Amino acid sequence: MQPLIAPSILSADFARLGEEVQDVLEAGADVVHFDVMDNHYVPNLTIGPMVCKALRNYGISAPIDVHLMVKPVDRIIPDFAKAGASYITFHPEASEHIDRTLQTIKEHGCKAGLVFNPATPLHYLDHVMDKLDVILLMSVNPGFGGQSFIPSTLEKLRQVRQRIDASGREIRLEVDGGVNADNIKDIAAAGADMFVAGSAIFNQPSYADAISKMRQQISQ
Ligand code: DX5
Ligand code: ZN
Repeated sequence: MQPLIAPSILSADFARLGEEVQDVLEAGADVVHFDVMDNHYVPNLTIGPMVCKALRNYGISAPIDVHLMVKPVDRIIPDFAKAGASYITFHPEASEHIDRTLQTIKEHGCKAGLVFNPATPLHYLDHVMDKLDVILLMSVNPGFGGQSFIPSTLEKLRQVRQRIDASGREIRLEVDGGVNADNIKDIAAAGADMFVAGSAIFNQPSYADAISKMRQQISQ
C-alpha cells in the first residue's frame, strides 16, 4: 500500500487551525491526524466533533483520521461520523465491548481501527482482525506531542506486520509518536505504512521540506 503521511494537528497553531491544515495538505500530506483527548483516559484535553465539522466546513476534503483517546468511546462515534471523520480509532482499554465499538464505527460509514499503547498487548487483535481497516501502534505514551520514539515499537511493528500479512486483508499499519525524518526509515522497514508526525512537521519552518524529507527516507 502507498505510504501515507498524516500530520498530527496537535502541534498546529490552534488559533489558525483551518489555514494550518490547508497548508500542511498543500505541502504534501495525505491525511489529517486528529487527536481527541478527554483529560480522563489521557492527561490532556483537546478537540471534539465540532472542530472536525468546522474543518470540513472550511473546505478540508482530505481524509481525517480521528484518534480517540477518550473513555467511554461509543457515544462520541456517531458525532464524529456526522462531523466528517474518515477513520476512527480507539484504545481497546477504553471500550467495554471492543467488537461492538468497531461495528458501531463501521455502521456509521467510517474506517475502524484499534490503537495499542506501548505496553498494551497485541492479544486484543485476536478475534477482530476481520473488522479492522487500520492498526495504530503508539510509539509514545498518549497525551502529548513532542515525546521521543520508544524503540521497542519497532519489534511490535514487525509482529503486527506479520499478522496483517497472514490475514491477507488490506489493513493499514499506522505509527504515532516521535516519528521524524531520522527514524522514519527504520519504522517503515519494520512494516508501517501510515506515519503520524506532529512536532516533526509543525515545528519546522517549511512543512513541504519536512514532508518531502520523510517521503525520501521511505522511498529509498
Ligand atoms: C500523542 C498523539 C500524537 C502526537 C504525535 O498522544 O496521539 O498524535 O500528537 O506528536 P509527535 O509527532 O510530536 O510525537
Ligand atoms: Zn494520535
